Amino acid sequence: MDEVPTQSLPSGDEIPVVGAGTWDIGGDAVKESVRTALDLGYTHVDTAEGYQNEAEIGEVLAEHDREDVFLTSKVLPSNLHYDDVFESLEASLDKLGTSYLDLYLIHWPNPAISLRETFDALERAHEEGLIRNVGVSNFSRYQLTFARKVADVPIAVNQIELHPWYYREELIEYCQRHDIVVEAAAPLARTELFEDPVLNDIADTYEKTPAQIALKWTLRKDAVVLPKSSSADHLRQNIDLFEWELDDDDVARIDDIDRMDNVYMIDVDDDIYGIPP
Ligand SMILES: NC(=O)c1ccc[n+]([C@@H]2O[C@H](COP(=O)([O-])OP(=O)(O)OC[C@H]3O[C@@H](n4cnc5c(N)ncnc54)[C@H](OP(=O)(O)O)[C@@H]3O)[C@@H](O)[C@H]2O)c1
Repeated sequence: MDEVPTQSLPSGDEIPVVGAGTWDIGGDAVKESVRTALDLGYTHVDTAEGYQNEAEIGEVLAEHDREDVFLTSKVLPSNLHYDDVFESLEASLDKLGTSYLDLYLIHWPNPAISLRETFDALERAHEEGLIRNVGVSNFSRYQLTFARKVADVPIAVNQIELHPWYYREELIEYCQRHDIVVEAAAPLARTELFEDPVLNDIADTYEKTPAQIALKWTLRKDAVVLPKSSSADHLRQNIDLFEWELDDDDVARIDDIDRMDNVYMIDVDDDIYGIPP
């Protein structure tokens, strides 16, 4: 299997464009999933304090060189006050058995807590070397404009729901214009998009699976994908994406599916606010 390509973050760090998602798996299942992923050549793991599986992931990471894995965790929206950020971060580091995270994300925006206060904490954690890169998740363009104003550290990533049934072209364009790497959460729409006739037709042509076509399309949008799987066969498929290409015509056919069907994201209508450039 080829090595997974990377994208550069504003810090100069490299983020592998495929990461192992870990939402909603715990105990032995998450250990097995992450262990298999790392054995197959994944070098990027995505977790969160809210997933309640960091201790199990830490056990698996202990079997590897820490520097070989790009590790992301997230702070819950209820823990965005200054001291709470540190409490959450220290708990995550402790459970994951590491002295630093490669990336730490605000899991969801929380309008009841000052973003400036949260970023003050994230900046200090960054200065102290506890987190190498700072990012957000589930932020709209409107929320990002404010985050960019109050953050003194670059916002390296916005992790958002993104897949062929939920193509958020304007948000992607906004992020990329401001050097914010887009990460695709739920890139398989939690299996819902496997019934899509266009994806199935293209999959037949390339002798790939609909999952691989969906992931490949998302990579073509210069996003990082974070598929989750408990199956070794699926984990293998989800990283076997670099020795073949999707034709531009097929990318365009998938663009045109245009269903705007989200599996977890609450839609925020940016247009009602008017987005400054
Ligand atoms: N920031 C956020 O708020 C947020 C929200 C959602 C997700 N995420 C991140 O994104 C990750 C992925 O999202 P997700 O877990 O919600 O869903 P997903 O990755 O879109 O879908 C996971 C489902 O797809 C199946 N699957 C995976 N690969 C497959 C393949 N090649 N063929 C057939 N089925 C396949 C899995 O079943 P098997 O186990 O049987 O393979 C599982 O049921 C999460 O784990 C998390 O890390 C973040």
